Amino acid sequence: MSKTSNITVVILAAGKGTRMKSDLPKVMHPLAGRPMINWVLETAESLSPAQIITVIAPDQTETQQAVKPHDCVIQSEQLGTGHAVQCAQDKLKNFDGTVLVLYGDGPLYTKETLSHFLKNIENAKAAFGFLGMEPDNPTGYGRMVTNADGFVTEIIEEKDASAAQKKIGLCWTGVMAGKAKELFDLIDKIDNNNAQSEYYLTDLPKLATAQNLKTISALASLDETLGVNDRAQLAELESKLQARLRKQAMENGATLTDPASVFLSFDTQIGQDVTIEPNVFIGPGVTIANNVTIHAFSHIEGAEIKQGAEIGPFARIRPKSSIGAKAVIGNFIEVNRSAVEDGAKSKHMSYLGDAVIGENANIGAGTVIANYDGFEKHKTIIGAGAFIGTNSTIIAPVTIEDGAIVAAGSAVTDNVPADAMAIGRARQENRDGWAAIYRGKRLDAKKAG
Ligand code: UD1
Ligand code: MG
Repeated sequence: MSKTSNITVVILAAGKGTRMKSDLPKVMHPLAGRPMINWVLETAESLSPAQIITVIAPDQTETQQAVKPHDCVIQSEQLGTGHAVQCAQDKLKNFDGTVLVLYGDGPLYTKETLSHFLKNIENAKAAFGFLGMEPDNPTGYGRMVTNADGFVTEIIEEKDASAAQKKIGLCWTGVMAGKAKELFDLIDKIDNNNAQSEYYLTDLPKLATAQNLKTISALASLDETLGVNDRAQLAELESKLQARLRKQAMENGATLTDPASVFLSFDTQIGQDVTIEPNVFIGPGVTIANNVTIHAFSHIEGAEIKQGAEIGPFARIRPKSSIGAKAVIGNFIEVNRSAVEDGAKSKHMSYLGDAVIGENANIGAGTVIANYDGFEKHKTIIGAGAFIGTNSTIIAPVTIEDGAIVAAGSAVTDNVPADAMAIGRARQENRDGWAAIYRGKRLDAKKAG
């Protein structure tokens, strides 16, 4: 962040978010794998401001953590948006640039829109700018009254609007910017004589106009202005952000067979010539290198998938895992905190936990690594080129060295030296004719009733 920037961003996030019906503060509800507030912060950061200050309520310690390393100020009582901005005043005593106000529950704004908006204010040499929108249904929003020059002279809240004012289609998005000095001078003059007895930030245009300060309006595309007030809107914004992430992935050279059924996260990195089949979930912290195929119904979080690997269908890769180049993780495999090295294969129904699976090792169907003894997790090392026969139980901690073979159905409790064969099961015994004798006895018994 450049300390020389003449912009400071103030994010309002202290509102109760009552309609979310949640113990979690509204701005902490996740969208594409991270809290809503962090989307707003990312956009704010992209403007390289001198400072970003988030206004929170006293009990919002999670939000305080989430916005780090940026500052918070506490609004002890939620007395309105005007009062919320006023709370940031002390932190901005020596700042004489422009303050940009954003809402913590409006995560869709882009850098382009906001920097264009700030430029407009600067070019017009205006004291303030208010970003407007024209929603299909303006109910609930503050209506922007403009004069013949297009300057905003008033914003009237729904609850205070007359029938005629309610017909105004231009609404305030909640985004505004103003010169710090003028902003705080006028904020001190805001009162709470309105239907909600709140200190409205929307009183600014009227106060500014009275002092002949220029207050411009700008129009934002509706795509960016949506905010979250309830869970239905949360879902709507999730789908908008997902659409952006999928579009980005496809632009970067990935094939999403059925984009709408692929869930990505804010930080998902996807290389070129990657194919992602339908119904795939990718949580936070996933990197997918070039030429990887993710088959349908796979669930991946916190993992690195290297070049040319093949995952799924129905695979689950859990955090702190890596899948090597050209490795294969097939159906019903769970990989947890494990490194599967280049060319290794585990193709059917296995659990690989706290393990290193060496290069080109082969894990047979139904292999289970028993990594947990009820108290602690233990490590398993399987060497390069090792072959684990099907339905083996590897009881950690254990090391199976390079090139070793484990016979199918073994319970492996001890280390296996390189190129050795371990067999850990009861030996087979054949009893000649036993089956025929057994069947004869059972049939006789049945006949006798
Ligand atoms: C506000 C605007 C309205 C605009 C709408 C756009 C006012 C008075 N009204 O209404 O003109 O059309 O946004 O969405 O500004 N907040 C605080 N402290 C408070 C109150 C609110 O930090 O004391 C924060 C909230 O967390 C939220 C934002 O300010 O992020 C907006 O508050 P909200 O109550 O949602 O305002 P709206 O009724 O939507
Ligand atoms: Mg709102």
